[in-house]
Amino acid sequence: MNSAFSKYYDTVMRPLERKYFARIRADLIKEAKGYVLEVGAGTGINFAYYTSAEKVIALEPNAEMARKASQKAIHAKIPIEVIPGNAESLPFEDNTFDSIVGTLVLCTIPNPEIALSEIRRVCKNNGIVLFFEHVRLSNRYLGKLQDFLTPAWRHLCDGCHLNRNSLQLIMQKGFKVIGEKRHFRNICVTVIATNKKFLE
Ligand SMILES: C[S@@+](CC[C@H](N)C(=O)[O-])C[C@H]1O[C@@H](n2cnc3c(N)ncnc32)[C@H](O)[C@@H]1O
Repeated sequence: MNSAFSKYYDTVMRPLERKYFARIRADLIKEAKGYVLEVGAGTGINFAYYTSAEKVIALEPNAEMARKASQKAIHAKIPIEVIPGNAESLPFEDNTFDSIVGTLVLCTIPNPEIALSEIRRVCKNNGIVLFFEHVRLSNRYLGKLQDFLTPAWRHLCDGCHLNRNSLQLIMQKGFKVIGEKRHFRNICVTVIATNKKFLE
């Protein structure tokens, strides 16, 4: 774990958050309803944007980030509990949550396929999943540039892959996308999807 990353994350992100991400997060997170799980909650940047949830369980494996998140949880409008853990092995029963949130996290989780299977398992049937992710660009040259930059980027940004096609992974796992918005010339995407577990 890169300790500088967790220490300076909020400071480095602040200009981006103020200018661009805050609006995107607010628009997405307001859709989280009922009993909510947030995976890889980081320093808790999303916490201020929960308005309709009953309670949020915020899972974060990095102790320093979790400590900062716990401080932000105190000021949230709804109850938020920060707990340690990783998304590839979620410590919850099947069909526990109404909504599951992940922002800028599928890029970093070492095995996003397993994490998405776990998310599908612990989310209720017809529950909702909400993601805000950067993705690999379909433009041939820009996609290749992302591939080229990824090893250095991973090193600098604590395991983040610039070139993951997270939207495709979400769809491959069987989530039904009901809302998709592209941002910043397709570099980022917000996804609202339902967790249909049974054929109707
Ligand atoms: C780029 S940060 C994003 C933090 C936050 N979600 C946000 O939107 O600002 C990536 C986060 O993923 C977390 N992470 C890394 N591996 C993980 C795993 N296996 N399960 C859950 N979270 C993980 C990191 O600790 C970090 O908090």
